[in-house]
Amino acid sequence: MRRSMQLTVRRPVLVTSLGVAALLAAVPAATAASPSAPEQGRGQEHASAPSVPADSLRALASDVGLHIGTAVNAEQLAQNPRYREIVADQFSTVTPENAMKWEALEPRRGEYDWAQADQLVEFAQENDQLVRGHTLVWHNQLPAWLNEAAPDMTPEELRAVLRQHIFDVVRHFRGDIWQWDVVNEAVDDNGELRDSIWLQKLGPGYIADAFRWAHQADPKALLFYNDYNVAYTGAKSERIYQLVKELQAQGVPIHGVGFQTHLSTQYGFPQLRENLQRFADLGLYVAETEVDVRTEVQEGTNTPTSNAGALAQDAEYSQSLQACLQVRRCISYTVWGIGDHLSWVPGTFPGTGAATIYDEDLQPKSSYDVLQQDLELASGAPVRPGRWGHWGRWL
Ligand code: XIL
Repeated sequence: MRRSMQLTVRRPVLVTSLGVAALLAAVPAATAASPSAPEQGRGQEHASAPSVPADSLRALASDVGLHIGTAVNAEQLAQNPRYREIVADQFSTVTPENAMKWEALEPRRGEYDWAQADQLVEFAQENDQLVRGHTLVWHNQLPAWLNEAAPDMTPEELRAVLRQHIFDVVRHFRGDIWQWDVVNEAVDDNGELRDSIWLQKLGPGYIADAFRWAHQADPKALLFYNDYNVAYTGAKSERIYQLVKELQAQGVPIHGVGFQTHLSTQYGFPQLRENLQRFADLGLYVAETEVDVRTEVQEGTNTPTSNAGALAQDAEYSQSLQACLQVRRCISYTVWGIGDHLSWVPGTFPGTGAATIYDEDLQPKSSYDVLQQDLELASGAPVRPGRWGHWGRWL
């Protein structure tokens, strides 16, 4: 049985010291609250925090009013005690990596399989974690029955199927989800609305509909638009900015924008803080929802081909966290999985890997250490004694 969330609101404390803190000192005070957003946000915490290591990411993040999360692999959570321990000890929010996607929840039409998603929600409640629901409307990981049937459906039929899906899923988890990724990746790389089955059959209005339906089904959940490359200033980011402004102008219940933040050391670092801030300035919450940093690896391994690549990974993890810390309405920072061997990266971007903050033995990497240090510095905690990290660096 799932319990409902017990929440209290606590003001974040930002004590300044040293480098990161100096950056934070330049952060302006909170901007006006979103008119439609429930009073939730950074600083929201459970009444009874579990005892977690004082130097864990979640304990340190809590000191600066940030939720830190990871995507969770359902099989690992079910079977691997070490994996469970890390997720529980280190993170204050969790996102199902696949378990709440349409193909996972409704593999056969009308037959739901809630088991894996329910297990994650229960785990989160046992460990006083908040859940990011991911994701209601996407063009990928749709069930085979839907991919087959959709092209022959009338717009009315497909609209009814989508509406039913959103109501069924959001109602099932009602009260248990902190942030829902309502619409995922609806803008393409050229800055056009993506030519998905949803746009083709339903027209652009499906986006507003999805948010309205989700809000009716669970009025307390924070509703997010989520996408990749939002932080690279250009056509895609502009279109997303325009889209959310249009939604707000229409009174659509949208409360946040999720920056996936799948980074690569092969490209330049994006204009992350600036873009987080400009969306926050619309009165929205922002979040980094799927952070990973891939680099070139030796074939078939998660060993970076160069020391420079590995160092750049640490730097990009650090910069991505600092960007969130510098934006008052950035309420969560979620890494996309733990354990380089479990990451989607090697299978999706051949030749790259080593993208997470834990290695193949589920030991923390130097990228974990930089996140930990950034959080410590941000809270003004004393700098911990150093130790040797990967590549012979003194951390
Ligand atoms: C990925 C998962 O990590 C993989 O396990 C799965 O095979 C494919 O999807 N953007 C998203 C995530 O919003 O849902 C994707 O997750 C990664 C890209």
